[in-house]
Amino acid sequence: MSIAKPAMQSEDLRDPAYLKIRNMIYQVSGIYQPEEKLYLLASRCARRMSAVNVKSPAEYLEHLTVRGNREVELRLLLNEITIGETYMFRSPAQLEALRNVILPQILEVKSAMGFKRLHIWSSGCSTGEEPYTLAMFLLEESEKMLAGWTFDILATDLNDRSLAAAKTGIYGEYALRSTTERLRKKYFRPHDDKQLQVTDQLKSLIRFDRVNLNDDSKMTFLKGMDLIFCCNVLIYFDLGSKRKVMQHFFSNLLPGGYLFLGHAESLYQVDDRFRLVHFPGAIGYWKPPVGYTGGGKP
Ligand SMILES: C[S@@+](CC[C@H](N)C(=O)[O-])C[C@H]1O[C@@H](n2cnc3c(N)ncnc32)[C@H](O)[C@@H]1O
Repeated sequence: MSIAKPAMQSEDLRDPAYLKIRNMIYQVSGIYQPEEKLYLLASRCARRMSAVNVKSPAEYLEHLTVRGNREVELRLLLNEITIGETYMFRSPAQLEALRNVILPQILEVKSAMGFKRLHIWSSGCSTGEEPYTLAMFLLEESEKMLAGWTFDILATDLNDRSLAAAKTGIYGEYALRSTTERLRKKYFRPHDDKQLQVTDQLKSLIRFDRVNLNDDSKMTFLKGMDLIFCCNVLIYFDLGSKRKVMQHFFSNLLPGGYLFLGHAESLYQVDDRFRLVHFPGAIGYWKPPVGYTGGGKP
């Protein structure tokens, strides 16, 4: 989403209250706004400042730090800061990698151990397009390679408004622009003359929850994942917060599981325990099984 630079005087941006708010957001969420992007922060604070009827950044900082409802206000500000661009079937090459290489590998290992369930996590799911895409993909595969398998998708985000929209599952042409007519007919029903709503079958496969990737207390308990998608989320994080999230993802994944990031993102200098695996048009990060010494799969 592009935001025009507000007609704000640069001396306003030098107000020390903005730096304090920036640091507070970083501490809580891992999202770092460099000095040259402070105008974005200021424009988003401006929306909350007018909602709570305060005139200066210093007064607004007070709302975030000393007022009784400071936690609620911080959450509302985070909703303004973390607006997420997304659409269905954004990364077809990742789905191809799943279909052709990753799922056959994981199914072989899990079925040898007697397991027939997959656990998938869409972290930073925004308004739900990514997890619904995964649900459609997996349902389609249930008629083929995933016959006899069950799966669940955990879809999480920091933004309450995005999660509320995700739960309703109502989408317009913008979100559906890469979804084929066949899949639209199969997994959606008309909502109004411009929008479609996902079927209950699709919704029933996904559990939506608010998880802050920077919150150790929640991240520690999300174990046993076969696949984690964290696409186009870490672009807002600095190196330190990326490293922290990767520590968690590595232990959230089962050995042999895969992590996918967005097209323009990488773990270069962030975490070297994952193995980089190239697929046509996509890369994945593989968590090697304990004792893996470099031969064989993937
Ligand atoms: C650009 S969207 C990506 C949506 C989807 N993954 C995709 O690639 O299409 C980025 C999402 O990351 C979320 N996000 C940012 N910081 C987060 C954090 N600390 N914890 C959880 N989600 C976060 C935002 O709220 C936003 O919905």
